[in-house]
Amino acid sequence: MQISEELLNKLKNKESVKILAIESSCDETSVAVVENGRNVLSNVIASQIDIHTRFGGVVPEIASRNHITAISNVTRQALGLANCTLDDIDAIAVTYGAGLLGALLVGISFAKGLAYMSHKPLIAVSHIKGHIAANYASHSDLKPPFVCLLVSGGHTAILDVVDYTHLKLIGTTIDDAVGEAFDKVARVIGLGYPGGPKIDKMAKQGKEDIEFRHKYTLENSYNFSFSGIKTAVINYVHKKEQKGEEINQADISASFQKVVTDELASKAVKAVKDLNRDTLVIAGGVGANSKLQEKLSKMCESEGIKLYFPSLKLCTDNGAMIGSYAYYQLINTKEIADLDLTAKSVVPLC
Ligand code: KG4
Ligand code: ZN
Repeated sequence: MQISEELLNKLKNKESVKILAIESSCDETSVAVVENGRNVLSNVIASQIDIHTRFGGVVPEIASRNHITAISNVTRQALGLANCTLDDIDAIAVTYGAGLLGALLVGISFAKGLAYMSHKPLIAVSHIKGHIAANYASHSDLKPPFVCLLVSGGHTAILDVVDYTHLKLIGTTIDDAVGEAFDKVARVIGLGYPGGPKIDKMAKQGKEDIEFRHKYTLENSYNFSFSGIKTAVINYVHKKEQKGEEINQADISASFQKVVTDELASKAVKAVKDLNRDTLVIAGGVGANSKLQEKLSKMCESEGIKLYFPSLKLCTDNGAMIGSYAYYQLINTKEIADLDLTAKSVVPLC
């Protein structure tokens, strides 16, 4: 469905367009108020990490129940911190996918209720596109075109971002997503959930000298494969256990992280050069990885490529990134949602 020309023109002529954005696709209940796609007036994140840690990962049904408990207060807080009431809001945005169906439905139902009672347009946003837009909310000077390396718990891809709402897929993972590989390796070596940040921290004390036996690199391709290195780590750990030998968590973390970040960084930089772009933008939770940041900073500096990471708080799931993308979606595609909007566990990358 498209927004009416009359309402769109009214919004385009406004100095300040404020979007209230809701994100509940996994284990974070987050609501933000974002002005003109860039200015984050508030971004409240209620994390469920402590609740799921004891289970070693996110339990979908528990996540949904906790979203229900949190969402009203998080919304009230987000409006309060932005110094707004619902009357000051121009549109309601919500993540419709990809993610956990039950978790998404909580955000969608709440957003529909708000949009219906306040007669505001409802904007359905892809979580993946939101992760890219986290960079617009972090860097006021950033504009497409650029190459994006998307590295999250559910996705890994290289995208050519031609314009705000026009993306082309250059490469993707043929098996596990990179965040998923971090989380599985962390579990196997006993670091627990959430795996990525724990491996990142542990690797700082380790040596990158374990050579895991794997067929990993997909040469001459922008695609990735992470299941080989993940299995190689699991086999390495099992062999050590069978021999009754201790494993060194720090060395495994550092060696695994080296393989993965080398691959991500080299393919992303090659894509920027091959596509004749001058800017590389990182999106998604694994973008918080300190080794990936260090490696890409060095490589991009020596290649003369401008490099952007979202601010650390906007790397992982948050409402601000949804509010940012919603603005560009509304202005560029005029696309809004009906009240029959439903959740999608999988959405196309572009
Ligand atoms: O983008 P995100 O918040 O959720 C999805 O949309 O999937 O990403 C979560 C993923 C998890 O797999 C988590 O382990 C990983 O990002 N992650 C990290 C780091 N911080 C979060 N991976 C590596 N190093 C980190 N510092
Ligand atoms: Zn995410």
